Amino acid sequence: MTTDQFGVTGKIAIVTGASSGIGRVVAERFAEDGANVVVCSREQDNVDPVAEAIGENAFAVECDVTDRKAVDSLVSATISEFGGLDVLVNNAGASFMAGFDDISPNGWRKVVDINLTGTYHCTQAAGEALKKDSEGGRTGGSVINIASVAGQQGSPYMSHYGSAKAGVINLTRSLAFEWAGSGVRVNCVAPGFVATEGLESQMGISADDVKREEVERRVGLCEEIADVVQFLASPASSYVVGETITAAGVPDIMESPEL
Ligand SMILES: NC(=O)c1ccc[n+]([C@@H]2O[C@H](COP(=O)([O-])OP(=O)(O)OC[C@H]3O[C@@H](n4cnc5c(N)ncnc54)[C@H](OP(=O)(O)O)[C@@H]3O)[C@@H](O)[C@H]2O)c1
Repeated sequence: MTTDQFGVTGKIAIVTGASSGIGRVVAERFAEDGANVVVCSREQDNVDPVAEAIGENAFAVECDVTDRKAVDSLVSATISEFGGLDVLVNNAGASFMAGFDDISPNGWRKVVDINLTGTYHCTQAAGEALKKDSEGGRTGGSVINIASVAGQQGSPYMSHYGSAKAGVINLTRSLAFEWAGSGVRVNCVAPGFVATEGLESQMGISADDVKREEVERRVGLCEEIADVVQFLASPASSYVVGETITAAGVPDIMESPEL
């Protein structure tokens, strides 16, 4: 168990969607701090290099979070490899920009499946392991969902994504009540714009566009989201339950025309 209140040393964590962007940086951060990390994405070839770069306290598993059997196998593989589970970071997510009139039923379903149903699958599959404590006490387990400011406020041309992320925020709060007695805390982070591969492909904003000194309303860095995730995974947040922490640089992201 960690002696550093803000640390995750000795914890066992799953980070979904860890082949790039925020998930990769969270996984790297956890491992640097002494956690054992299972990194997953839909493609083994994408996630293997992440585990290799991290080193022996990382393990890569191919898992599509929309596939319940694959998610069950992810949890089993984690327990086989590291012997338990303390932290689940539901980070896997994706979207595309489209006006509401142009979103097909299939497109809507895919975005809701990845962002919301994937979070449901992973959290439910991990529940038993997160609640387990060999000493019969409170586990200190932590679920951290990655939502978005799009789920907190209207999000033009991202209504499918905003709806799914709003669902993630509500799931966070609902489940936090249900699981509070078991000692598993459920919390959420709602990032604003963060420089990642995902943002670049969706909106053409790259990490090179992040000019921190020049742009007052700037794009965030993955490391800044990892800071919040680490706090929620650590004992320092032991009294924080069911909350969504916005990490967006500005109080109202929709007023950021520079982006
Ligand atoms: N970047 C932003 O501005 C921003 C803002 C607010 C919220 N967020 C949220 O933050 C999270 C990470 O975003 P990001 O920008 O870092 O994204 P990203 O760079 O596009 O990375 C997304 C990750 O999810 C994986 N993934 C996609 N679909 C998956 C599935 N069905 N099952 C498992 N893994 C899957 C991808 O890996 P593979 O392709 O290898 O499967 C990749 O590792 C997402 O939930 C996103 O909605 C991002």
